[in-house]
Amino acid sequence: MIPLFIFYSYLVISVGVYGAASNKNIFLLAGQSNMSGRGGVVNLTWDGYIPRQSASNPAILRLAANLTWVTAVEPIHKDIDVLKVCGVGPGMAFANSLLRKAPRIGVVGLVPCAIGGTNISQWARGGELYNQMMRRAAVAVNGGGIIRGLLWYQGESDTLTLEDAKAYKSRLHQFFMDVRNDLHIPHLPLVQVALASVSGNYTNMVREAQLGMKLVNLGTVDAMGLPVQEPERLHLTTPAQVSLGKMLTNAFLRICNSKS
Ligand SMILES: *[C@@H]1O[C@H](CO)[C@@H](O)[C@H](O)[C@H]1NC(C)=O
Ligand SMILES: *[C@@H]1O[C@H](CO)[C@@H](O)[C@H](O)[C@H]1NC(C)=O
Ligand SMILES: *[C@@H]1O[C@H](CO)[C@@H](O)[C@H](O)[C@H]1NC(C)=O
Ligand SMILES: *[C@@H]1O[C@H](CO)[C@@H](O)[C@H](O)[C@H]1NC(C)=O
Ligand SMILES: *[C@@H]1O[C@H](CO)[C@@H](O)[C@H](O)[C@H]1NC(C)=O
Repeated sequence: MIPLFIFYSYLVISVGVYGAASNKNIFLLAGQSNMSGRGGVVNLTWDGYIPRQSASNPAILRLAANLTWVTAVEPIHKDIDVLKVCGVGPGMAFANSLLRKAPRIGVVGLVPCAIGGTNISQWARGGELYNQMMRRAAVAVNGGGIIRGLLWYQGESDTLTLEDAKAYKSRLHQFFMDVRNDLHIPHLPLVQVALASVSGNYTNMVREAQLGMKLVNLGTVDAMGLPVQEPERLHLTTPAQVSLGKMLTNAFLRICNSKS
């Protein structure tokens, strides 16, 4: 039995200890609103509900907007996707299920980068979003650790016109290649979400581009069928984000296990 006061002092020092950990397993999270997280947001207000699968854990850190590591607490994109009201996303559920399934992995460091409403062209190399993600990735590894993967959930904004939907596959492929090249991790695990957006007329074309993408160490999970938040029906619910987080974990572990 650990005396309570020791337990509490452990909590207080944990960010310092874990933040300095040289063995962080770093994940970049990028894309648009469903990656940022709108679970529990109704009428531009977040309900504040955090399910236990998305709860904070001293072994899950987040690179805050000010480039310091802090204990991750939903909504983890709150200081990144600042123009929107953020809620629960898939990141914490991903990290918690990863720690459950790979308990010896150590510290998980999440680097939230997603911004609601963004299209693939805005994520192209040299653009502000891309540069920002690369800056955050560089700072993240500087503190010690290895970038283990990119979690990517984007494309809804590219379902609106035929031109964008047609161009999606080559733009996405280029984005993945550029990220791997610029991080100098040629086989960086990528886990993407195939979207199920209803906002555009060309969703199927973007989905086909995603599902048809053939790259080594690319895993794909499917958002089709996950429940959306009423009444707006624009974003995944909190329980849907929990499910998605677990799917992302399973896909990531499948990539790791398939490595020779
Ligand atoms: C959201 O706004 C609509 C329309 O103003 C209202 O009918 C509804 O009760 C509100 N829902 C919540 C959960 O606040
Ligand atoms: C950085 O941001 C985090 C999260 O908002 C905050 O807790 C922390 O105090 C900030 N640190 C500095 C040095 O500003
Ligand atoms: C992407 O979004 C930006 C900002 O809204 C817009 O200026 C640009 O035209 C869009 N690009 C494409 C190819 O859709
Ligand atoms: C978020 O995901 C849901 C479920 O796939 C989809 O219906 C919705 O269009 C997405 N929303 C946005 C803004 O991308
Ligand atoms: C989708 O197509 C319908 C029918 O042509 C059109 O009325 C609607 O405006 C289109 N939606 C978008 C988002 O372009």
